[in-house]
Amino acid sequence: MAIQRWVCRWRRGCLLAIASALTVAACSGAPGAARAGWEADNPLKPIPRVPLGAAINLLALKTPPTPERVRLGRWLFFDRRLSADNTLSCASCHQPEHGFSQRTSTAVGIGGRRGRRKVPPLINLAVFRPPTAFQTGPEAAYFWDGRATSLERQVIGPIANADEMGSTAEGMIRTLERVSAYRPYFVQAFGDRRITNERVAHAIADYERTRLSGNSPVDRWKLGHEENAVTDAVKRGYALFAGKAECGHCHLAAGFAGGAFHNIGIGWDADRKAFADDGRHAVTKGSVFETWPGTFKAPTLRDVSRHPPYMHDGSIPTLRAVVEYYNRGANPNPYLSAFIHPLGLSTTEIDDIVAFLNALDGDGWQDDGPSQFPR
Ligand code: HEC
Ligand code: HEC
Repeated sequence: MAIQRWVCRWRRGCLLAIASALTVAACSGAPGAARAGWEADNPLKPIPRVPLGAAINLLALKTPPTPERVRLGRWLFFDRRLSADNTLSCASCHQPEHGFSQRTSTAVGIGGRRGRRKVPPLINLAVFRPPTAFQTGPEAAYFWDGRATSLERQVIGPIANADEMGSTAEGMIRTLERVSAYRPYFVQAFGDRRITNERVAHAIADYERTRLSGNSPVDRWKLGHEENAVTDAVKRGYALFAGKAECGHCHLAAGFAGGAFHNIGIGWDADRKAFADDGRHAVTKGSVFETWPGTFKAPTLRDVSRHPPYMHDGSIPTLRAVVEYYNRGANPNPYLSAFIHPLGLSTTEIDDIVAFLNALDGDGWQDDGPSQFPR
């Protein structure tokens, strides 16, 4: 009895003490309490398992992502302080609700400035290898024209681009150094508190690598053998995609990822007889890997329904319009891929392919981002 009364008194005392400590911490804005806030909002998480069909084993990469770098990268990816005027983060253009893409035809950057290309989605980027070496050469190829050969190399670009985040690499480092609460997370991720371009790039790239998409209705049907995961229209659409419509020449590799460079006529100006954007050609000109003008990377078709309009210039408004474009043989031009020609698809067949494309919406990548940041 006596013991019970004592435990009771002790418990009450303790609870009171904890409650008052929390109140004091909350009212005084004590750093410990604040840190607990942003840490609880962005906890360390195990590296995600591969969703069905994504075909990417993060732990098998040469330098696998670590939970510490991914957590730091998640903050940095969403942190608007990385831009010149604190208005933009990577997520302002790579919007999580649209598959980390954007629903405008070309990117909208700092001060509303328009870029010239559509924001690509950031899913399943951990492994993005062109399927045939002879077409490109590099190990991996990021951007519509494949000019970046690793995710790390790509990160500082937008931060220092006058039309994107408008800052400079040095400006960004100075900003981050002023946020003293970031330091412990650089220590956790890299062993000491130095903040460098390479470290920022590595952390953000590791966060990007964990945006995996799989387990779509098509994966569950084709790989999981769930006959009812998709409708008959989707099944017919798949058969057309891989057969009569010949989409598979360029889009079937590595789980609908595409990856190689082709000319499908987007941006061709028949009067000027030129492309508005030469794409891969401008990158490879003069090298042994030189490609024709108007060639662009075949993008992933996973979660493609989430980010219209389509193509590198966002010129095609809907998936149906994309399939109609292929069906009429695209924009004929001297460099058009040999795989492109009029397809003779009926209206129902077009509907079926669109149904199939919509059934490539997967999960594993979704993330609203952190709501609190180290201060
Ligand atoms: C102003 C809008 C904007 C901002 C801000 C922005 N991006 Fe991008 N991003 C783009 C556009 C547009 C492209 C395509 C450019 C091209 O292909 O030439 C792109 C391409 C990429 C790619 C290549 C994807 C692929 O499929 O090849 C990656 C990765 C990427 N961005 C990551 C980032 C990161 C990380 C940040 C923040 C540091 C960021 N972006 C900030 C607009 C933006
Ligand atoms: C010759 C190779 C090739 C073939 C065949 C092909 N595509 Fe493409 N696809 C591409 C390339 C390259 C792009 C990007 C072109 C650009 O932006 O200029 C693209 C873009 C797309 C896009 C837009 C994706 C986005 O994020 O903007 C969709 C959707 C698409 N293709 C679906 C299909 C379908 C459906 C078929 C079959 C009817 C097909 N493709 C056949 C190479 C091909």
